Amino acid sequence: MHWMKSVLFLFVACVASQNTTCKRCEDVAHGFALLNGGTTGGKGGRTVVASTWEELKTYAASNGSLIVRVDGLINSGERGYEIPIANDKTIIGVGRKSGLIGGGFAIKGTKNIILRNLQVSDTRIPEDWPGKTEDWDGVQVDNGTNIWIDHMKFARMNDGLIDLRRDSTYITVSSCILSEHNKALGIGWTTNVTARVTINDNFFNSTNARNPSADNLDMCHMYNNYFRNCTSYGTYARGNTSLLVENSYYDGVFDPIVVGPNASVKANWVKFKHVEGETMLDVNAKKVFKASDYYRYSLRDLYDLPNDIPYFAGPQEDVGS
Ligand SMILES: *[C@@H]1O[C@H](CO)[C@@H](O)[C@H](O)[C@H]1NC(C)=O
Ligand SMILES: *[C@@H]1O[C@H](CO)[C@@H](O)[C@H](O)[C@H]1NC(C)=O
Ligand SMILES: *[C@@H]1O[C@H](CO)[C@@H](O)[C@H](O)[C@H]1NC(C)=O
Ligand SMILES: *[C@@H]1O[C@H](CO)[C@@H](O)[C@H](O)[C@H]1NC(C)=O
Ligand SMILES: *[C@@H]1O[C@H](CO)[C@@H](O)[C@H](O)[C@H]1NC(C)=O
Ligand SMILES: *[C@@H]1O[C@H](CO)[C@@H](O)[C@H](O)[C@H]1NC(C)=O
Ligand SMILES: *[C@@H]1O[C@H](CO)[C@@H](O)[C@H](O)[C@H]1NC(C)=O
Repeated sequence: MHWMKSVLFLFVACVASQNTTCKRCEDVAHGFALLNGGTTGGKGGRTVVASTWEELKTYAASNGSLIVRVDGLINSGERGYEIPIANDKTIIGVGRKSGLIGGGFAIKGTKNIILRNLQVSDTRIPEDWPGKTEDWDGVQVDNGTNIWIDHMKFARMNDGLIDLRRDSTYITVSSCILSEHNKALGIGWTTNVTARVTINDNFFNSTNARNPSADNLDMCHMYNNYFRNCTSYGTYARGNTSLLVENSYYDGVFDPIVVGPNASVKANWVKFKHVEGETMLDVNAKKVFKASDYYRYSLRDLYDLPNDIPYFAGPQEDVGS
């Protein structure tokens, strides 16, 4: 009788763990999000599954550490609504076809948040391609700290795909697809020069501007990014930004790297193909920080980027397993 109980217990435990845990749910951030205490999201907390917009909103706003697995493509209950995320959350998609359609996320003065393996798309108003009529971003962050945005796909929104505003800092944006949009990734909206952001292994695909626009960043580190068909401008260091661009590939980009009068840039091993306009690779380069003083990272072979980045970026079966 005793052994049967043990077997039964094991069986129940296995079933429960299959439903509530996942292999990659406790991964932690690299890059600047690794510093300042690290970005672990909901690690150590319970794991729950959200398959409706109401569940997602409730879990995202709840107190304490929580891992929220988004199961399937959820339609936003209100067009353009940005779901607020409280401290210590990991929001991660199941498989490679989960996400939020017609709405986005908001991080306002909160910290330690991971957003992974989700598609966030389609708040665009068909007759307003530039996306100027509404402020319906994919992710809008104001004064947020320790944030990791990874293996996401953002496409066809209104206003920005990702807006990192008002001294939001210790942020890593990695392995994301930013696609078919006017304003891809904006950083700034502040006069303080404090933000530290890492942007690596992303695919900027048919995005008109802001790849990123980086205004007043203390340190902006970009590497292993692939840019294709960016029609207005590529990477723009404005204000007092210090920008380090390493191992990146710009294909069919107008003004691939531009730098304002108070900014500084250092570029190392950057490939340009079919580009026109400015390629400012060394402007006050001596003022630019050295990323390896802060964390370890690995650079990909630049000529592999056009094949590897589109393949490995965005939601993946493995990350959602
Ligand atoms: C979270 O905690 C704060 C303070 O402890 C409390 O005021 C608030 O009502 C809590 N929110 C939820 C959703 O439990
Ligand atoms: C930023 O958020 C923190 C809470 O994380 C809050 O204490 C602080 O007042 C906020 N600062 C601004 C300028 O909004
Ligand atoms: C700039 O920093 C000051 C002092 O910390 C703060 O009061 C202010 O809110 C910051 N500005 C923005 C736009 O966050
Ligand atoms: C890249 O953009 C094109 C539109 O120019 C679109 O058809 C394609 O699906 C996008 N690729 C990805 C991976 O999002
Ligand atoms: C390039 O991007 C623009 C939008 O910025 C889009 O209209 C156009 O179809 C894209 N071209 C290709 C070849 O994908
Ligand atoms: C450059 O910095 C100076 C001094 O802070 C400021 O007056 C000027 O507006 C800045 N220019 C730009 C383009 O940010
Ligand atoms: C911005 O840069 C200008 C010119 O280098 C400098 O005079 C100014 O003090 C800087 N401002 C900040 C807030 O760092």
